[in-house]
Amino acid sequence: MAEGGEAERANPTISALFEEHRVFPPPPEFTVRANVRDRLLYENAERDLEGFWAEAAEGIDWFRKWDRVLEWSPPFAKWFVGGQLNAAFNCLDRHVRTWRRNKAAIIWEGEPGEQRVLTYGDLHREVSKFANVLKHLGVKNGDRVALYMPMIPELVVALLACARLGAPHTVVFGGFSPESLRGRINDAQAKVVITADGGFRRGSIVPLKQNVDEALAGCPSVENVILVRRIGEAVHMHFHEGRDHWYHRLMDEAPLQCPAEPMDAEDPLYILHTSGTTAKPKGVVHTTGGYMVGVSATHRWVFDIKDEDIFWCTADIGWVTGHSYVVYGPLANGATVFMYEGSPDWPDKSRWWEIIEKYRISILYTAPTAIRSFMGWGEQHVRKHDLSSLRLLGTVGEPINPEAWMWYQEHIGGGRCPIVDTWWQTETGMIMVSPLPGVTTTKPGSATFPLPGVRAEVVDEYGNPVPSGSGGYLVLTRPWPAMLRTIYGDPERYVSVYFSRFGPKVYFTGDGAKRDEDLYLWLLGRVDDVMNVSGHRISTIEVESALVDHKDVAEAAVIGRSHAVKGQAVAAFVTLKAGVPLSRDKADDLKTHVIEKIGALARPEEIFFTAELPKTRSGKIMRRLLRDIAEGRALGDTTTLADPTVIARLRTQYEENAES
Ligand code: PRX
Repeated sequence: MAEGGEAERANPTISALFEEHRVFPPPPEFTVRANVRDRLLYENAERDLEGFWAEAAEGIDWFRKWDRVLEWSPPFAKWFVGGQLNAAFNCLDRHVRTWRRNKAAIIWEGEPGEQRVLTYGDLHREVSKFANVLKHLGVKNGDRVALYMPMIPELVVALLACARLGAPHTVVFGGFSPESLRGRINDAQAKVVITADGGFRRGSIVPLKQNVDEALAGCPSVENVILVRRIGEAVHMHFHEGRDHWYHRLMDEAPLQCPAEPMDAEDPLYILHTSGTTAKPKGVVHTTGGYMVGVSATHRWVFDIKDEDIFWCTADIGWVTGHSYVVYGPLANGATVFMYEGSPDWPDKSRWWEIIEKYRISILYTAPTAIRSFMGWGEQHVRKHDLSSLRLLGTVGEPINPEAWMWYQEHIGGGRCPIVDTWWQTETGMIMVSPLPGVTTTKPGSATFPLPGVRAEVVDEYGNPVPSGSGGYLVLTRPWPAMLRTIYGDPERYVSVYFSRFGPKVYFTGDGAKRDEDLYLWLLGRVDDVMNVSGHRISTIEVESALVDHKDVAEAAVIGRSHAVKGQAVAAFVTLKAGVPLSRDKADDLKTHVIEKIGALARPEEIFFTAELPKTRSGKIMRRLLRDIAEGRALGDTTTLADPTVIARLRTQYEENAES
């Protein structure tokens, strides 16, 4: 594994951020009305961590109050021990007893342009009925349910119905291949799969049901498939009698009442897979009590949510951002969530701005990669629309470069909206490092400070804090309520990945960071074998395994190369088996193979064929040198190479190839 300086080498654009000196104090007119106006939360958390989180937990409805706030036997934490609650109850039942019954919970727009509004009352009814549907199919407390769906309201209904019964859901992003879907379903041993006949993406149809059929050829745990009709006649699919059921048919017959199951605070709420440093994705397990406290509190503090806001988090629910800030955080807070099915450039590049104007969106939360795309497309698409409803902007998923930050602030935020650059991970469940918009003076490109109750440090390879200005590893040194509890079915991996490098009390994030002289945190990107492509985590090893699975490939090394829009792009160095001729379409053939194995998001942007790969004497491929080559930098330390001539030859070939 690389040392802190490695992250700077890996991402020179990001380390240039450190030269950024512009500051943006919170606008006074924002602070006056903000949910958090002063530093009291920080002080309270410093004084009494457990008392602080206990107070945050008052924002959640409990069927039974907890006995102890925290049981910490490193690296295992239990929060709100003895407490009982239900996540769906917190997102629905407690609101329908108030004036919010008729408040919009979800405002949805489909890619073809349809609109739907579900009030809290509507959502409560749909979720209760669908929970009865699941029950009728034999789903009970503790059973796993897999979801592979487009961004439609039924996805939220399905999620909350699982939560209502205490059946952990495992959502698989609709862009994953049948093989990836199969791996995740089998890892979770899901009993039911919920999907749709298809989804819309840039005017074409994603054949979700067909993918499910392919996946299920190897998923013995699955007994039933529930199908939402999203596309209808236009999609061709097989209906497996006995196994497949139409959502609308089942809903027609479902009873209306379904009480929310009281769950223990530590009962799992969901499993969500994320890429690690091996070929097998990790099933991150989140539990009920701490997670609900963490996401609802951070959603209130960071997004300053008010009843009159229209909150738009653009993430797909297939990712953790969607779980925490499309569904659980905002709905627990009784907010109005806007949800959009499609992509930002369909039917044209002003779709998002049209949406913001039409629905008077007030808070927009998106990824730097999207902002960089918009910058590239030009301001003319933005200028046509009235964005005066916006009052707060957020980013997540990858470091944001100061130019993109400034563009976002000026062209989208009209110079008046604070920006919250939020750092967190699938594993953290909730935002960990971020400005508080009414309190924190921001610097473009810095995620600023750990939130109240969170302690982050930048340390060297021995775990000692580094002086400000030096790079190191970002670690979290106190447990937090929404933290992952384990890796599903693999508790040892939980310990070895997160809590062994610096001992059992220190969570290793896998990210490099720096602190400046004012203690602002600057994230420098991953320091492990994980890439961040358009804000999505992809494992280099996973892509390598997909490549070597191809019949013609002998060996492959994959790296994330800096990319102006995507942050990083997948680049692969491939050695073909002896005797395989290098034909023109070989690269395309291999790219298609990766798409089939993992999904389009892992498609290599570039494939470079080489006779040899640079290795250490013990046979490990030195990816860091490949990154140096792909990014045209001077080579780092080459002393551990078994044969230094390999890298010299590779560099010459690569450069010749780039010129031709
Ligand atoms: O490298 C960090 C980057 O995204 C990783 C987590 O990815 P994932 O689990 O998919 O969750 C993404 C959304 C929460 C981190 O290890 N990352 C996330 N947010 C930021 C970031 N890097 C820099 N700045 C951020 N604001």
